[in-house]
Amino acid sequence: MTAAGLKSTPGGPLRGTVRAPGDKSISHRAMILGALASGTTTVEGLLEGDDVLRTAQAMRAFGARVEQEGPGRWRLEGQGGFSEPSDVVDCGNAGTGVRLIMGAAAGFPLCVTFTGDASLRGRPMGRVLEPLARMGATWLGRDRGRLPLTLKGGSLRGLTYRLPMASAQVKSAVLLAGLHAEGGVEVIEPEATRDHTERMLRAFGAEVQVEDKDGVRHIRLSEGQALTGTHVAVPGDPSSAAFPLVAGLIVPGSEVTVEGVMLNELRTGLFSTLQEMGADLTIANVRLSSGEEVGDVTARHSALTGVVVPPERAPSMIDEYPILAVAAAFATGDTVMRGVGEMRVKESDRIALMARGLEACGVDVEEEPEGFIVHGTGTAPRGGVMVETSGDHRIAMSHLVLGLAAQAAVSVDEPGMIATSFPGFVELMRGLGAALQDA
Ligand code: S3P
Repeated sequence: MTAAGLKSTPGGPLRGTVRAPGDKSISHRAMILGALASGTTTVEGLLEGDDVLRTAQAMRAFGARVEQEGPGRWRLEGQGGFSEPSDVVDCGNAGTGVRLIMGAAAGFPLCVTFTGDASLRGRPMGRVLEPLARMGATWLGRDRGRLPLTLKGGSLRGLTYRLPMASAQVKSAVLLAGLHAEGGVEVIEPEATRDHTERMLRAFGAEVQVEDKDGVRHIRLSEGQALTGTHVAVPGDPSSAAFPLVAGLIVPGSEVTVEGVMLNELRTGLFSTLQEMGADLTIANVRLSSGEEVGDVTARHSALTGVVVPPERAPSMIDEYPILAVAAAFATGDTVMRGVGEMRVKESDRIALMARGLEACGVDVEEEPEGFIVHGTGTAPRGGVMVETSGDHRIAMSHLVLGLAAQAAVSVDEPGMIATSFPGFVELMRGLGAALQDA
């Protein structure tokens, strides 16, 4: 990772059509299910960010053959299960990677030690370890289940588990463990979260039952289901598309189109919210790709108005609040974001870092334990600062987008971390006309 900063300077309109990088959630899952399955899995459009490359490396450590065949094109030969790695598995910055792999690994009689970078070592793993332990897995590690930790799997019992927080990672870990648990598993989900694991398990031949009882999802997976390799076309990541699209909304005169964006309704809360704020955001050419709806999303510069974001929308846009807060900084009036306590346990405490970063840029922000309010004045924020990102890719990209329409340039530290989720971010934004330079 480079130590130098990166600076975005306000300038002329952004114009053009770009492709969103592959979806991070689906890329992790394609690697993990491809390794768990028997036979060949081919993947196109894989996100080749650091997080997913760590998962690819981990899958090799568990015994799968994983090869890159061309840009975004990968081939896996799965063995129908995991074998014991001969070394520590380092998942880098990736919470999704480590939590899903722990779930998958728990189903096998093996012992494995996981670690990650400083950010990942500070994040809670207890939320995954608790249900896995109830199924019979054991672990040994630091206080409250922080990495590094050693997990011992095998001989799992079935479990009915009600998610204590809205987390697709926890849901997915239990489902993946459930593939090898006696009696299978049922996950009860009071708030629907992204359903990529359920969809992809089906694509690999498993039967997943989903029942909606009064708005509560019951997801059942019976034991002993064999997965068979398949082809996965990874759609564009709406969480990454959010950055050029919000840039298009706030830089005067802009028109930006991002093609091939996944439109799964459990991921598009940001688009609905921006439209409620008055954004000229249109979706065209909607089509199906590998079972997911995708479309081309166009953002034109718009006068935005603050809104109250419904808290129940949070799971469908949990990674997008930092960039929404940037849009809110340009809006007229308050944007109220509540019910987002989960933001505090992401790659950084994203509520605290957005509040600090926006305030440094001259924006009035009120922080709450589980939310924050951005007081927009309808004028461009002052900018003119270096923002600390705590190595969080989305905090860095959000402030760089802000700098494109602020009164003065905004710099961020640790821009190298952007490559965890959006490796071509700088080039893509420059291609639209954004002024991004080393700082
Ligand atoms: C993800 C789920 C979300 C999200 C993360 C990706 C996934 O995390 O923030 O970037 O792929 O399942 P939580 O499940 O912890 O909310």
